[in-house]
Amino acid sequence: MALVTTKEMFKKAYEGGYAIGAFNVNNMEIVQGITDAAAELKSPVILQCSAGARKYANHQYLVHLVKAAMEVHPELDLVLHLDHGADFETCKSCIDGGFTSVMIDGSHHSFEDNIAVTKKVVEYAHAHGVVVEGELGQLAGVEDDVNVSAADAKYTRPEEVQEFVEKTGVDSLAIAIGTSHGAFKFTPAQCTRNENGVLVPPELRFDILDKISEILPQFPIVLHGASSVVPEYVKIINAHGGKLADAIGIPEDQLRKAATKAVCKINVDSDLRLALTAGIREYFDANPQHFDPRQYLSPARAYIKEIVAHKIKDVFGSDNTL
Ligand code: G3H
Ligand code: 13P
Ligand code: ZN
Repeated sequence: MALVTTKEMFKKAYEGGYAIGAFNVNNMEIVQGITDAAAELKSPVILQCSAGARKYANHQYLVHLVKAAMEVHPELDLVLHLDHGADFETCKSCIDGGFTSVMIDGSHHSFEDNIAVTKKVVEYAHAHGVVVEGELGQLAGVEDDVNVSAADAKYTRPEEVQEFVEKTGVDSLAIAIGTSHGAFKFTPAQCTRNENGVLVPPELRFDILDKISEILPQFPIVLHGASSVVPEYVKIINAHGGKLADAIGIPEDQLRKAATKAVCKINVDSDLRLALTAGIREYFDANPQHFDPRQYLSPARAYIKEIVAHKIKDVFGSDNTL
């Protein structure tokens, strides 16, 4: 079985009112945790690699880890995607190297330059059977090679999306409607508190999403920076020597709402990092005498599987859609 593109996947997700999880992969345990969960729940899944992942693990290892997952789970539909491709050369090397989908992140360029670089990637990608995600608007937080402060973050301008999609030919569009990268998406001052004293972040700008989908009917939209910053994992980390004060993510009900609308791909990295770290910290606290990586990475991998399964089933709604 070959890797697939997102084309059919997004069409079904749009029509079915659900979204596909796009999970960042950096090592074997992460690939295993994600794909074991997806296989158990009969869900398609996107495995995405950032420039940082390619630098850490090496492109070949990542491609072959994903190929191994395909052999183990031949029933799965898997997409191998480049996350935040910084330029044409990076996208080209992933297209040439077996990826089925790439993101060209030209969001920090001017509108015209973003169109130019995105169009160039689309022409090369489509000639090789690969799909392309573009980005309009800027999320706050740290993306590979791009550090955007909250003050510089810009919501996507609906009046730009039609021209961008028409001129570039992109297959999907990442938009900025209030999500951001990392585990500290909002300051406590930006939040309100619910009756239990828990911080509640401001709502995503669903008005912008709705406007965009009116202008681009049936067009797949992507949400970056969409980790919920799972409070249970933050608690475990902090209870076992970690220091993650005021970590706040996107509430699950808002992601669920986005998935029922035009959002077909939801990006998650920080929640996987938290799950892995929670598993390892908890293990070492209970077993300080142990030093076998297989021992402390097993519960960490189990937490990855647990959180991915929860998102697929309870938040994105992509279970039983294969
Ligand atoms: O959007 C950014 C992703 O979380 C990737 O992070 O560049 O540290 O691999 P990374
Ligand atoms: P999080 O930091 O919210 O997990 O976002 C990940 C992401 O957008 C990867 O491109
Ligand atoms: Zn991102």
